[in-house]
Amino acid sequence: MKAIKIVTIVGARPQIIKAAALSRAIRTHFSDLLNEVIIHTGQHYDTQMSEVFFTELNLPQPNYNLHVGSAAHGEQTAHMLKGIERILLDEQPDYVIVYGDTNSTLAGALAASKMHIDIVHIEAGLRSFNKQMPEEINRILTDHCATLLFTPTQNGYDNLLREGFLPLQQAPCSADNPGIFLCGDIMLDNCIFYSNRDSNTQNYHTKNHILSENYILCTVHRDHNTDNPIRLTSIFNALIRLSSLTGQKIILPIHPRTLKMLSKNLDEKLHEIVLQGDMIQLIEPASYTEMIELEQNASLIITDSGGVQKEAFFMKKPCVILRSQTEWVEIVETGSAKLVDADEDKIVAGALEYLNQPPTNFPPLFGDGKAANFICETLFQNKQHQLFLIIEKNEV
Ligand code: UD1
Ligand code: UDP
Repeated sequence: MKAIKIVTIVGARPQIIKAAALSRAIRTHFSDLLNEVIIHTGQHYDTQMSEVFFTELNLPQPNYNLHVGSAAHGEQTAHMLKGIERILLDEQPDYVIVYGDTNSTLAGALAASKMHIDIVHIEAGLRSFNKQMPEEINRILTDHCATLLFTPTQNGYDNLLREGFLPLQQAPCSADNPGIFLCGDIMLDNCIFYSNRDSNTQNYHTKNHILSENYILCTVHRDHNTDNPIRLTSIFNALIRLSSLTGQKIILPIHPRTLKMLSKNLDEKLHEIVLQGDMIQLIEPASYTEMIELEQNASLIITDSGGVQKEAFFMKKPCVILRSQTEWVEIVETGSAKLVDADEDKIVAGALEYLNQPPTNFPPLFGDGKAANFICETLFQNKQHQLFLIIEKNEV
């Protein structure tokens, strides 16, 4: 039988990381059945935001790179849509796979949907219930034109049921008969795979002059936090207070968006203190394995990243979330993460509470680390069902 052709669309850092897990499963177990073509939209383009993940996680170089770069949402998405459509016309794949909720996700889903190509959405069903977030719109629209929706959590599955999706009635799935599958989190696949490898911690820490035994790891990149001077100031004031109260350094691998916004949105004095490096150590964006090591060795994680929130949970680390709501509600419900928004006092109090009494409740809410295999198997089976249906129709 001819291998099923999949076009995978990536663009932003976390999508490259997630795609690496699926690609590894294809190469290891499904290479005769699934043939993958990779499109990189170019949404992220700095070496440390893109190339480093292809190399380190052994993801094949993209077959196409649209090099769209940064722009306003509409312009960026439109460039992607145009470029992806052109490639899909040439490639004529059986499936288009999109991840998460970025502009690259939406562009991929729209292009495929107009051409009646089955869309596979990995990380379906997640909701913040905040439509001010560009990601919330991207994920809702993508879910509602997808054929196969793979959701990592029970909450994601329940959200889809609430929005009118039905548990699978009859195969095969199509855009008009979408299938929803609770399969666990594909990021856990990676986390397990890479946490079990030889550690480079010493090298990495030495390279970055991370000399302190105990440190707090922090990432900030949400536009809601970075682009608002009041919120960004409040977050950095909290980090400085926390460092002086605990004596622990704040290690902050800095997203390029945030780096640009520090000088624009912090006043001169605060900006200077941040750059001094005594309390907050800004480092360039980490590679994936470096990030895993930073997370494993941190006393506490403070973040507004979706992926980092989950990785904190996977590694049994307390997490202070710089948002007022999260798609990963279950980690807050377990008591191992707290929503503190960008409120200076709440950030400090939440962090101190966790440092004094670390949480211990980390139940297995994200599956068994085998999501990628399940997804590949389902893609294959669904295409088989579609083919049988065509054969049956032709025979009648
Ligand atoms: C995007 C996603 C967000 C995701 C994040 C992961 C959307 C709407 N947002 O946010 O959901 O959590 O990626 O990291 O899709 N920049 C560079 N170099 C790069 C990439 C970005 O300098 O390689 C700078 C540019 O100034 C750019 C800004 O960062 O304007 C924002 O980049 P963009 O991709 O638009 O959004 P992110 O904040 O990265
Ligand atoms: N990450 C990384 N280096 C960094 C920061 C994050 O490799 O300097 C990884 C992190 O371990 C996780 C993913 O990037 O796997 C999360 O991506 P990000 O925070 O950019 O976006 P989000 O998950 O919020 O969409």
